[in-house]
Amino acid sequence: MGQSRLGVIGYPIKHSLSPVMHTSWFNKYKLDNRYEMLEVPPDTLKATVKKFRSPEWLGFNVTVPHKVAIFSLIDEVDEKAQLIGAVNTVINHGGKLTGTNTDGEGFIQSLLHAGFSLTDKVQALIIGAGGAARAVGFALAKSGIKRLDFTNRTQEKAEALSEVAKEFTASSALSLSQAEEGLADYQLVINATSVGMEPFPDHIPLSLRHVMPGTFCVDLIYKPLQTLWLKEADSKRCQTLNGLPMLVYQGALAFKHWFGNMPEVDGVETLLVEYLN
Ligand code: ATR
Repeated sequence: MGQSRLGVIGYPIKHSLSPVMHTSWFNKYKLDNRYEMLEVPPDTLKATVKKFRSPEWLGFNVTVPHKVAIFSLIDEVDEKAQLIGAVNTVINHGGKLTGTNTDGEGFIQSLLHAGFSLTDKVQALIIGAGGAARAVGFALAKSGIKRLDFTNRTQEKAEALSEVAKEFTASSALSLSQAEEGLADYQLVINATSVGMEPFPDHIPLSLRHVMPGTFCVDLIYKPLQTLWLKEADSKRCQTLNGLPMLVYQGALAFKHWFGNMPEVDGVETLLVEYLN
């Protein structure tokens, strides 16, 4: 059998780190595979997905803007992806395409790896209510923590997420000023907005005036590696984590879906930093 293929579909798709990451694992485990970057305009998505049913394709990753549109083009969408409302990984089992989402679990694993314990004492706050907040929020809500609140520029969107999170843990939607005032109550605060993501101008999505030193502050952004908000958290003596470990873990979990085992993640972050610079 010839080389097996994998890839990522998106539009536009100039700077994906996924090929670097997966190729490093193929080399490490001596797998004769190829991971490709496929720029797929929305009007060609259907035809492209059809090609992925052929046996040479083991599966593929899905990124913006196809994470929702892909639902109707594949055969099965698992519970995780259903809950998040987005697919980021597809597995080809003999022509049958199954979609899942590894973002939420990738986030949880990156947090545990950084030394944060998800106990029933933890109160967490998510800033943002878009796709990233959904993925991270629902995984966190199901992780056994005490409560998970949401705040967002558009508060109605935080309310909608909080309503879903309530199925799994205590949850409220807060205005930005309520969240800022109550920040001392949280052990974990996550920026899941796109504020600070290159190439857009950076500002602080939520003031950290009342944050307690030692609070775990996570920014899901990895470009730049340190946003203004994360710098601010650092200066308040919080523990900080950027979005790169989550990217690595969501990729490692996709690899596990395709090959059955979790690949080694140590060292991959360093490799990706070189590509970001
Ligand atoms: P993603 O998939 O990265 O989560 P998204 O679904 O477009 O992207 O969500 C972007 C998030 O960042 C939203 O929470 C958005 O707030 P709104 O719901 O009010 O739009 C937030 N966001 C984007 N730009 C922002 C800004 N300049 N200030 C505050 N929040 C912002």
